[in-house]
Amino acid sequence: MSRRYTLLLSSLLALGSLIISPQASFAYPFWAQQNYASPREATGKIVCANCHLAKKVTQVEVPQAIMPDSVFKAVVNIPYDTKVQEIGADGSKVPLQVGAVVMLPDGFTLAPQDRWTEEMKEETEGVYYTTYSNDQPNILLVGPLPGDKHQEIVFPILSPDPAVDNSIHFGKYSIHVGGNRGRGQVYPTGEKSNNTVYNATNAGTVTAINTEENGTSIVEIKTDDGNIFTESIPVGPVLNVKVGDKVKAGLALTNDPNVGGFGQLDTEIVLQNPARVYGLLAFFAIVSFSQIMLVLKKRQIEKVQAAEGI
Ligand SMILES: *[C@@H]1O[C@H](CO)[C@@H](O)[C@H](O)[C@H]1NC(C)=O
Ligand SMILES: *[C@@H]1O[C@H](CO)[C@@H](O)[C@H](O)[C@H]1NC(C)=O
Ligand SMILES: *[C@@H]1O[C@H](CO)[C@@H](O)[C@H](O)[C@H]1NC(C)=O
Repeated sequence: MSRRYTLLLSSLLALGSLIISPQASFAYPFWAQQNYASPREATGKIVCANCHLAKKVTQVEVPQAIMPDSVFKAVVNIPYDTKVQEIGADGSKVPLQVGAVVMLPDGFTLAPQDRWTEEMKEETEGVYYTTYSNDQPNILLVGPLPGDKHQEIVFPILSPDPAVDNSIHFGKYSIHVGGNRGRGQVYPTGEKSNNTVYNATNAGTVTAINTEENGTSIVEIKTDDGNIFTESIPVGPVLNVKVGDKVKAGLALTNDPNVGGFGQLDTEIVLQNPARVYGLLAFFAIVSFSQIMLVLKKRQIEKVQAAEGI
C-alpha cells in the first residue's frame, strides 16, 4: 500500500469518526466500553444502569442445556411501546434506539458466521456484534439499533469444547443480560443529558427565566435570605415553572422527558457432557429393553396358561 493511500485512508477514517461522533451520545455500549473494564460491577449491577436511570423490562431465552462445540441462540427481548418517541440530539422527537449486552460464561463466543443457520442469518439481518474487549470475547454487545425493528435481538452463540480447551469444564453457568431502550439521563462524566428531569437545587422563588442563544433556559431562583442560584436547562425537557413560582429544593422544574429504560437479568445454561448423555441414553435403552422383555415374558406365560386351560 502506498504511503499516500495510507494517508488518504487515515484521513477518511478520521473524517468518518468526526461524522459519527455526534451519534456517540446514542452509542450507549460504547460508553460502557470506554469507561469500565467490565460491564458488570461486583454488586452484579450492569454498568449501563449508571447512566440509564429508569428501569424497564428485559427478557432472555436460552436453551437449558447445550452440547460442546455447538451453535445456539440467545434471544434478548427489549419490549416497549414503539409509538412513543424521545428527545433527540437536536431537541426534536425521534424513535428510540435499543442495545443489549450478553455476558456469556468463559469460552462461549459469538458463533462464526459460517456456522449460522439460515434462520439465524435472517433473524440477525442488520445486527452488528462487537465484543466488549479483545480479551473478553465472551461479552457481546449490540446497538444502538432502531428499536422498532429490533425489540428482539438474536445472538448466535458457539459453546466451547472442554475436550479441546482444558480450561473449560462441563457444568452449569450463569449468563448475565442487559437490554436498553432510549438515551441515557447521565453521561459517565456525571453530566446530565437533556433526556432527563431537572430539579431545583435550592428552595426559593423563581425571579427570572432567560433563554440563551442555543436554547438553554437559565432559571434564576432567589432564596428567602436573598441569595440567587441559577439552574441551566437544555432544550428538551419542558419547563413547568414560571416567574413568581415558589419552589422547594429537589422539586422538578421540568417534566421528565425520558420514555426509555434499562433492564438486566441472569439466567443459566448447562454445558452438557456428551459422554453422560450417551450413558443416560444407554441406561434408558436398557430399561426399555428389560420392560419389553418383561411384557413378552408375561404374554408368553398367558399363552401357556391359555393353552393349558388354566
Ligand atoms: C441534547 O443532548 C444531546 C446529547 O447529549 C446533545 O448532543 C444535544 O446538543 C442536546 N441538545 C440540546 C438542544 O441541548
Ligand atoms: C448553551 O450556552 C451556554 C452559555 O451561553 C452554555 O453554558 C451551555 O453549555 C450551552 N449548551 C449547549 C447544549 O451547547
Ligand atoms: C427530581 O424530581 C423528580 C420528580 O419530582 C423526583 O422523582 C426526583 O427524585 C428528583 N431528583 C432529585 C435529585 O431531587
